Amino acid sequence: ARGYLVDRMQRPLQDLRISVTDRCNFRCTYCMPKEIFNKDYPYLPQSDLLSFEEIVRLAKIFVAHGVSKIRLTGGEPLLRKNLEDLIAMLSTIRTSRGDKLDLSLTTNGALLAKKAGILREAGLSRITVSLDALSDPVFKKMNDVDFAVSDVIEGIQAAEQAGFSSLKINMVVKKTSNLQEVVPMAAYFKNSPHILRFIEYMDVGSSNGWRLDEVVPTHDIIQLLASAGMRLTSLPARKASETAERFQHKDGSGEVGFISSVSRAFCSECSRARLSTQGMLYTCLFANAGYDLRHHLRTRDNLASIEENDLKISNLVGQIWHQRADRYSELRSQIDTTSQPENPKIEMSYIGG
Ligand code: GTP
Ligand code: 5AD
Ligand code: SF4
Ligand code: SF4
Repeated sequence: ARGYLVDRMQRPLQDLRISVTDRCNFRCTYCMPKEIFNKDYPYLPQSDLLSFEEIVRLAKIFVAHGVSKIRLTGGEPLLRKNLEDLIAMLSTIRTSRGDKLDLSLTTNGALLAKKAGILREAGLSRITVSLDALSDPVFKKMNDVDFAVSDVIEGIQAAEQAGFSSLKINMVVKKTSNLQEVVPMAAYFKNSPHILRFIEYMDVGSSNGWRLDEVVPTHDIIQLLASAGMRLTSLPARKASETAERFQHKDGSGEVGFISSVSRAFCSECSRARLSTQGMLYTCLFANAGYDLRHHLRTRDNLASIEENDLKISNLVGQIWHQRADRYSELRSQIDTTSQPENPKIEMSYIGG
């Protein structure tokens, strides 16, 4: 038996994030700005998407390499037809120790009221809902499709009723858009079982016009909460590779998280691989090139069985991870993020959050 797989910085491969569609029903200004993601945008044709069978073949390969967490993302993953079927297929996979996977989903919540029940039945373990504001005008300006806060809240409630006991709520903070929503959001989720996480606005992709002066560092948010009477105390990390630093309200009511990828990069423990909608493997959220695994899924050597073919893919994945040296967020401060890079970075809606 081989030892477990690590990259050039000794980071194991533990998490796989799979994007199941590059489309979304929102146009969040920090992710899919309307001017670029309009009706002329070249979304992937159906034939380019990995099929559920292909996704499962790859998932098994990654699990054999040590992955125990799989997150489905997009775009908006609930736009993928029959997603519950994929979840049911993935939920039967076991790790080499015989354990179930931690199978989760990141969604904008728009379709959750309708789908929470079937997702639960299909075997989904956890849901993360993105919500950037409690004020309708602020939220509508950010999602840019006139979607109401109450519809997301309904989705959250449907998830609770379906048996997802604690959700994560992701809030991207952009200084001139929703800084004033930080305190109301924290107050709203304070006495709930859900974990609100503040995310620093990142320079992901090439089309969101990112500027450093729109980033609100975690430190500022902690102070803002404190001045509103919400004091926090830190909680120990559950896993080294966690994106969020965990805190708890001092008066004991609920957990809060901070994802500080700009002010405090967490690359040194990053164990995440990403699979795009069309089967490209990326070893970093900020990669500008990936590895075409779909090609290897769809072309087989003469006489090779699927098993033999997948063993070849497995070796390739091993090699790719073995030579991985990505740590973009740690290097960000040393590069000029305002100039146009030669190879544009991959869009977040394509590679998955
Ligand atoms: P849990 O395992 O439930 O904690 O989920 P997660 O934090 O891994 O996943 P989620 O999709 O909720 O990620 C939250 C946000 O963190 C994403 O939307 C990104 O903004 C950011 N993020 C996640 N992974 C990475 C990463 O590898 N690098 C960077 N720079 N940011 C990341
Ligand atoms: N910076 C930080 N987070 C982002 N997300 C999308 N774009 C960005 C960005 N530029 C987050 C969303 C959601 C997840 C899918 O990715 O808020 O939680
Ligand atoms: Fe869609 Fe999520 Fe991107 Fe917003 S952040 S445009 S909801 S994929
Ligand atoms: Fe991992 Fe790249 Fe994010 Fe760093 S920037 S945490 S290496 S995905």
